[in-house]
Amino acid sequence: MSVDSVFRTRSLGVAAEGLPDQYADGKAAKVWQLYIGDTQSRTQEYKTWVVSLLKKEGVKNVLDVACGTGVDSIMLLEDGFKMVSVDASDKMLKYALKSRWDRRKEPAFDQWVIEESNWLTLPEDIQKPGDGFDAVICLGNSFAHLPDFKGDQSDQKLALQNIATMVKPGGILIIDHRNYDYILETGRAPQGKNIYYKSDLTQDISTSVLWVENKPHMITLDYTIQVPQETVQSSPEVSKFRLSYYPHCLESFKSLLMAGFHGKMEHSVYGDFKTYTPGQSEAPCYFIHVCKKTV
Ligand SMILES: C[S@@+](CC[C@H](N)C(=O)[O-])C[C@H]1O[C@@H](n2cnc3c(N)ncnc32)[C@H](O)[C@@H]1O
Repeated sequence: MSVDSVFRTRSLGVAAEGLPDQYADGKAAKVWQLYIGDTQSRTQEYKTWVVSLLKKEGVKNVLDVACGTGVDSIMLLEDGFKMVSVDASDKMLKYALKSRWDRRKEPAFDQWVIEESNWLTLPEDIQKPGDGFDAVICLGNSFAHLPDFKGDQSDQKLALQNIATMVKPGGILIIDHRNYDYILETGRAPQGKNIYYKSDLTQDISTSVLWVENKPHMITLDYTIQVPQETVQSSPEVSKFRLSYYPHCLESFKSLLMAGFHGKMEHSVYGDFKTYTPGQSEAPCYFIHVCKKTV
């Protein structure tokens, strides 16, 4: 692994200013559906869990702050939730917009609100209903996309604060990240089934870790996906894209969340959408945090 490939952590074609949109060159967006595999079979892994939690909490309206191509938003629209979906990447949103258009005759899709928005400017970008959404979701290892360029996590704190302001008192935030504790300890992802990304077409994912002052600062994954020629027109046979993540560890992310809610929340954590017991024999691939905003 050359130094260049560690330091050139984003795809080429990224905007010259502002927060980088790692999806700006459209490469990952183009093959995203292939990467996540069959949508129904992907969401089946956690749909029951998410939907029953939302119903138990009496949730009606949901804000998806990292909707990407729309996979989770569509899952919830189909289950009768009122959705507002945002994402910073127009290349990803393009696919969500297309789904809304294709299914516009269904009232839920006709009323689906989709906006471009960045977590750092969320309150300026979207209007919250009354004192907030019943629930906010940020799934698929999305939050870890936010880099810590300043080295003090101030952007991550601001983003979580903005996301937390979108939740109404008594409402919930569901947010996840990969099990970076395990990845940093072992140099590889846990061996269990990856609940989110399990396409047979993924040929290779190579991992590099950038350390700054003895601390892991960024994890870069280089993906190689086999592209069946009949699915994506005028594509090469393999698609390569690169995504970088901030490796949030369980305990420190919990503290960041607590700060985002100014201490006013009840927190629970799950491993791959199941009960998680620290030190359990099977390491989860993902940690899912549920934060209930207290008054
Ligand atoms: C891994 S994708 C997941 C998308 C979708 N939730 C899924 O699971 O397929 C991460 C998404 O987060 C979005 N994202 C990253 N940083 C963002 C930011 N600062 N503000 C808003 N969206 C952001 C990206 O554009 C991308 O669509």
